[in-house]
Amino acid sequence: MDLHLGTLFHCLADPGPGPGNPTAWEFIPQGALAVEAGRVVARGPATVLTARYPDARRHDWGDDLIVPGFVDTHIHAAQVDVIASYGAQLLDWLERYTFPEEACFADPAHAAAATAFFFDQLAAHGTTSACIFPTVHEGAAEAVFAEAARRRLRIVCGKVGMDRLCPEALRDGPDRGRAATERLIARWHGHDRLRYILTPRFAATSTPEQLAWMGQLRREVPGLAVQSHVAENRAEVAWVQELYPEARSYLDVYERHGLLGPGCIYAHGIYLDDADRARLAATGTALAFCPSSNEFLGSGLFDLTRAREAGVTVGLGSDVGAGPAYSLLRTLASAYGVLQLQGQSLSPWRGFYLATLAGAQALGLEGQIGNFLPGKEADFVILDPAATPVLARRTSRARERAGGDLAAAAGEILFALMLLGDDRAVRATHILGETIYRRP
Ligand code: GUN
Ligand code: ZN
Repeated sequence: MDLHLGTLFHCLADPGPGPGNPTAWEFIPQGALAVEAGRVVARGPATVLTARYPDARRHDWGDDLIVPGFVDTHIHAAQVDVIASYGAQLLDWLERYTFPEEACFADPAHAAAATAFFFDQLAAHGTTSACIFPTVHEGAAEAVFAEAARRRLRIVCGKVGMDRLCPEALRDGPDRGRAATERLIARWHGHDRLRYILTPRFAATSTPEQLAWMGQLRREVPGLAVQSHVAENRAEVAWVQELYPEARSYLDVYERHGLLGPGCIYAHGIYLDDADRARLAATGTALAFCPSSNEFLGSGLFDLTRAREAGVTVGLGSDVGAGPAYSLLRTLASAYGVLQLQGQSLSPWRGFYLATLAGAQALGLEGQIGNFLPGKEADFVILDPAATPVLARRTSRARERAGGDLAAAAGEILFALMLLGDDRAVRATHILGETIYRRP
C-alpha cells in the first residue's frame, strides 16, 4: 500500500457551465490517495487514511495537487516534427507539412525513435492516456502499441486509413488497409490496457468502400470504435460535400457507413448543425474539442455550450501537431479563450473535468480511469502550483486573500494552473501507482 499525501482534486461529473456545481468535484487540502497493486483503494483526508493504513509507504507532496492523469482524446503521434509549422490552414497544412513528415514513418527506425520521443513528452506533460493517430503504415501503429505496452499505458490507437486523394506513399493498397487493420486488431485490441480504434483519417481521403468495410468490421468486433475528423474547416466541409453529395452533412457521411456509436470520437466538430449534434447525442458519439489547434490553423470556434446542451460528450484534445502544445493545461488556456470569444466561459472545475473524466467518458474508459473512485487504475499527476515565479506569486496571493484557507482558494489556484501552467507544473507522473516521470 502506498499513500500519496497532498491536495487532492478530482471530478465526479460535469460541473456545468457556471461557477461549478460543488457536488461534481472534490478538493481535499491535506488529502491522501491510497494505492495498492496499481489501483485506487481510497481517497480522503490524510488524517483518516494515515490512521486507517498506518503501515503504508508515505509520499508527501506538500501543498502540490494530486489530480487524475490527463486524457488527451485527440493527438497525432506522427506529427512530432510537424508541430509549429508556419502559416497555413488545414488543407494546405496537410499537403505542405504533414503528409511529407508522415511519409517518413514508412521507416521502422524513424517510427520507433519518434514514437519513444512522443511518449516521453506525454509523460512530461502529465498525459497518462490518449487516443492516438499514427500514420497509414502498419509499422507506425505497431510502434505506438508496442511502446504503450512497454510503458503500461491505457492507450487507444488505430492504423490510419487513407485510400485516395493523398500522396501515393501514404495510400492504402488494393485491400484498402483491411488486412493490416485485422492483424493489428488481433495483436493489440484488448491486450493489456490497449484498445484498437478504426481510424479513417477523414471522409475526404477515404473511398466509400473503405468507410464501408470499417463500418462492417465495427459491427463484428466487440468494443471496436471509430475515430476521425469532422467539420473542422470551411474548405474541408465544402470538399467533403462535393465528394459525398448524397450525404445530408459531413457527419452524415460517417453515420451512413455505420461509423457512429459509443466509444467513437470525432475531432473538431466546429461546423455542425443541431441535427448533427442530435445524432451524436443519440448514438453516444463524442467530440474532441481541440481549441489550440483550431486557433493555430484558424479553423474556427467550437461551441461547447451547444454541444453539451444537446447531450454530446466532449473530451479535450491537444491535436499535436496542428495543436502547438502537448500540455492539456495550455490547451485549457486556449479553450478558455475560444469560449470567451463566443460569450461563453470555462470554469476551472469544468476545465479540469474536460482534461480528465470527460476524456475517459468520451473514450468509454470511465470505468477504468478519469478520477479517484475506488477500483480505478491509479494514473495520476502531481501538479506544482508554484512551478514558475508567476504561478507562485499568483497562487500564494490567492491563498493569502482566502486567509490561508486552501479550499477557499481552490478555484483561483486551479484557474491559475489552467491559464499559466504547462509541463513546468508537472512535478511527477504516475502510471498504475508507479512513477514514470519526475521533473528534473
Ligand atoms: N484532418 C485530416 N487530417 C488531419 C490532421 O492530421 N490534423 C487535423 N487537425 N485535421 C485533419
Ligand atoms: Zn487531428
